[in-house]
Amino acid sequence: MGMSNTSGEYQFRQKHLLGLSEYSREDILFVLEQAKYFREILDRPVPKVPTLRDKTIVNLFYENSTRTRLSFELAQKRMGADVVNFSSGSSSTKKGESLKDTIRNISSMKIDMVVVRHESPGVPHFLTQCVDAAILNAGDGAHEHPTQALLDMFTMQTTYPDLKGKKIAIIGDISHSRVVRSNIIGLKKLGAEVVLCGPKTLMPVFVNDMGVNVSYDLEETLEWCDIAMALRIQLERQGKGTEFFPSLREYHERFGIKRTHLEKYPDFKIMHPGPINRGVEMESEVADSERAVILDQVTNGVAVRMAILYLLSGGTRI
Ligand code: CP
Repeated sequence: MGMSNTSGEYQFRQKHLLGLSEYSREDILFVLEQAKYFREILDRPVPKVPTLRDKTIVNLFYENSTRTRLSFELAQKRMGADVVNFSSGSSSTKKGESLKDTIRNISSMKIDMVVVRHESPGVPHFLTQCVDAAILNAGDGAHEHPTQALLDMFTMQTTYPDLKGKKIAIIGDISHSRVVRSNIIGLKKLGAEVVLCGPKTLMPVFVNDMGVNVSYDLEETLEWCDIAMALRIQLERQGKGTEFFPSLREYHERFGIKRTHLEKYPDFKIMHPGPINRGVEMESEVADSERAVILDQVTNGVAVRMAILYLLSGGTRI
């Protein structure tokens, strides 16, 4: 399967979306370009197209989700797909069935695409070896969350159509974040400058190899950036709780975005992948301010997921 851009030179040849590390700069720009059509469709009185009416998709969620799961499901239904949802908590996983057996049984029901979220890194890659369906990674442990980064970049492009040279700060729990990894990979491919900011204890060694800068000073970071993306403090992935900093109150004191920052640095936009810990990553007034594009990210997520489903389905009817 190959789909070209208007010049006819580029061909989209991906079969899966496992991570942005497997996607070229051209692939990413092509997905974002397609997403513009779907974003426009979402504003129509009847926001539906029959693009996936001959496709059956399973959403395989082994980890909690609100945004990603609903967004994928809505995208699939907006495109006319037959959709089935799997939650590990109410499945035969509880009786001891393995992931491999689960996916092979589901696949026997003639599934075209699988959207998977799992707490273990590499599960989407593993599934490509078990079934023929297109696999879309909806978040695998602390590894990648490619559709989140795509929707983040799409949202950034609504303010800055060309992200080359744009200054993006990503603030918070870098160590445990799949969102940061996918964003760094994608943003670097699009030529953005990335600074990571957070406590030293939440700054992993892998950042040294990713072409980003690190700051431990929130003030200098907010003064520098065009966009500040705050990341959730992932207490569920931090062992005994706040062992990486003295307390949530102290974390907020040093790294939380506050209303006073909006007044002091009048230009930067605020993003957050959600779910937000209000009063930790940012004050409530910041999350609800006009400078925040957090709910735009959620709306754009449906369009971006429609675009990637369309491209990976090999369909041609928008
Ligand atoms: N941003 C994100 O992945 O949110 P959910 O965990 O609610 O899907």
